[in-house]
Amino acid sequence: MTDAGRHPRIKLMTLSEVIDVKGYVGNFEVKILKRARYVSEKDCTACGECAKVCPVVRPDEFNEGLSSRKAVYSPFPQAVPSAYVINIKECLGHNPVVCAKCSEVCEKKCINFHMSDEEVVEKVGSIVVATGLEPYDPKELDEYSYTRFENVLSSTEFERLVSAGGPSKGELIRPSDRKIPKSVGFVQCVGSRSARKGGEYCSNICCMNTIKSTLVLKEHYPDIEIKVFYIDIRAFGKGFEDLYRKSRSLGVRFIRGLPGTVVENGDSGIRVAVENTASGKIVCHDLDMLVLAVGLQPSKTTKKLQEILGLQLSPDGYFLEAHPKLQPVDSATKGVYFAGCAEGPKDIKESVTQGSASAARAIRLMHRGEIVSEPATAEVDPEKCKACGKCVEVCPYGAISADPKRKIQAQITQAACSGCGTCAAECPFDAIIMNHFTDQQIGSQVETLLAEQPESKILAFACNWCSYAGADYAGVSRLQYPPNVRLIRTMCSGRVDESFIWDAFAKGAPIVLVSGCHIGDCHYNGANLWTQKRIERIRKKMSKIGVRPERLQLEWISAAEGVRFARVMEGLEKLRRQVSPEEIAETVRILSEKAQ
Ligand code: FES
Repeated sequence: MTDAGRHPRIKLMTLSEVIDVKGYVGNFEVKILKRARYVSEKDCTACGECAKVCPVVRPDEFNEGLSSRKAVYSPFPQAVPSAYVINIKECLGHNPVVCAKCSEVCEKKCINFHMSDEEVVEKVGSIVVATGLEPYDPKELDEYSYTRFENVLSSTEFERLVSAGGPSKGELIRPSDRKIPKSVGFVQCVGSRSARKGGEYCSNICCMNTIKSTLVLKEHYPDIEIKVFYIDIRAFGKGFEDLYRKSRSLGVRFIRGLPGTVVENGDSGIRVAVENTASGKIVCHDLDMLVLAVGLQPSKTTKKLQEILGLQLSPDGYFLEAHPKLQPVDSATKGVYFAGCAEGPKDIKESVTQGSASAARAIRLMHRGEIVSEPATAEVDPEKCKACGKCVEVCPYGAISADPKRKIQAQITQAACSGCGTCAAECPFDAIIMNHFTDQQIGSQVETLLAEQPESKILAFACNWCSYAGADYAGVSRLQYPPNVRLIRTMCSGRVDESFIWDAFAKGAPIVLVSGCHIGDCHYNGANLWTQKRIERIRKKMSKIGVRPERLQLEWISAAEGVRFARVMEGLEKLRRQVSPEEIAETVRILSEKAQ
C-alpha cells in the first residue's frame, strides 16, 4: 500500500466513492465523490497531538470496538496516506464551533474545518473492481449467544485481540475480566455453508484461519486447552494439511459437530453442548472463551457498483466473472476486471494472484493503444431507424445512444458492443444489422432445415456459450437424443428475433425451441432476460391467433449439461408427436393469412 501511495503514476484517492461511470473500454469517465478529510493530507505528519486533546471518545472500528479512538484519528496503524482524519459527525468543533482543541495544538496548522466534499471526474482506460468483503455478523445466530456473553467473540475480534498492534498488545485476555483464558473453543462455519442464515457457500478461509490461530495460541500459551468444533476441515492449499497436522500434534482437539446451545457456567465461563457426529454422543464442554469463525460476505458496495458498471452478480451476491475457467478475472463488460474477494471468498495468496492477473489484463489492454473489437457487432441502418430508443433500453452494455425526444437516431459504439444481438432482435423497425449471424443467414438456415418434411423436425435455436456447447457435450459423451433435432447457433439467445420464430412456424415447424444460458449465466450481461420476456410475449400472441403456445419452448441449458440437453430433446420429441399434420397446416394457413 505504501508503495502504491508513493508511485508517481498511481493516484490514490482515499475517503472516496465511485458514484457514476460513463463510457466504454479505453474511454471510461469515472465520477468520484471525494469526502473531506478536514486535515491537510500533505502537511499532516501523524504526530497525534490532535488526538491527545480531542475530548470525543468513540469505539475504534479497526479494533472491532475493543478499544477506543478520538474524533480525530488515524484509521489504522499503516494507513496510507499517513495523515489523520476527522469524523465530522462526531467532532464538536465543527458548526457550531465549541471545541477546536485539535486545531489549537496542531503546529503545522493542518486542521481545516472549511474543507468540503468534492466531485472529481477521472478518465481511465480500464477498471479493476477490488471491493473486498464483509465479515459475517453473528448477531442473528442466537444459539451461539454472541450478543449475550462477553466472552463469546467473533474471529475478527479475536484477531485484533491477539495482534501485536491490537488493544491488548497481543496478549490474549478475556473481555469480561481481562484474565488469560485457560481454554478456548472455536466454532467453524458461522454464517457459511448454511441454508438458514449467512451464505450457503464455503467462505474458503475460515478453517485455515482457525488453524493458524490455534498455532499462534499454542506458541504463546503451550498449556492452553483448545477445541475446534467443525463440520469438516477444508485444508486444501499448499502446505495447509501440514499446518492442520501440526495443530493436532500440539494437542488441539478437533471435534466434529457444531454447538447446539451456548450458556454461561459461572465466573463468565462458557458451556457448549455439542453433538459429536463422529461418536454420536452429546458432550458438554466448559471453556473460558468461545470464538466464532465467521464467514465472508460480499462488500456492501457490491450492489451499487454492479448497477453503476452494469455487471452481473452470482446467486451468492459476488461479482460474476465472464467465464469461470477461461476468463476468471474478466467481467462481461470489456475493460472491467476483478481482483480479490469482489468475485468470491479468497485467501491472501489467491487474492494476490488474482490481483496480479487483473493488473496484467488491464496492462495488456492499455499497452496496445487500440482496441481490437469483435467482428460480430451491430450497426444501425439510418434509413430504417426511427429513433424510438428501444435498442438503448435493451443493450446490456450501454453501447447504444439515441434520443427519442429529439429524434436523434441510434448510434452504436463499436468498442463497447459485444455482439449479443439483443438490439437487433428487439428493434421494431428492423433497423439494426448484425455483422455476423445476420437475419439473412439465420433465415436461410431456417428455410433449409425445414425445406423437407418440416413436420418431422425440432428446430432449436441455441446460444453459442451454453446450449450449443451443451449439445456438443451431449455429442462427445455419446448420449442418445432424437436425431431429428436441428440446431441453429446464435451468439446469445437474446439474438433470436421474433420473426425467426414466426418464420419457422410458417414453414411448418411443429416445435421451436429457444435455449440459452441459465439466468444469471448469460455471457452478455443478462441479455437472456430479454429472451425470456420476448418468448412470453410471443406465446401470448400465439394463444391469441390460435396456435398452441406449448409449441414454442424456452430452456436454459449450460455447457456442462449434456445429459440435460439430451433429456430436453427427448421431451421435445414427445411434444412433437402430439402436433398433428392438421395442426401444422392450420398454423401455416393462419400465418400466411396474417402475412398478406
Ligand atoms: Fe447464452 Fe446469452 S450467451 S443466453
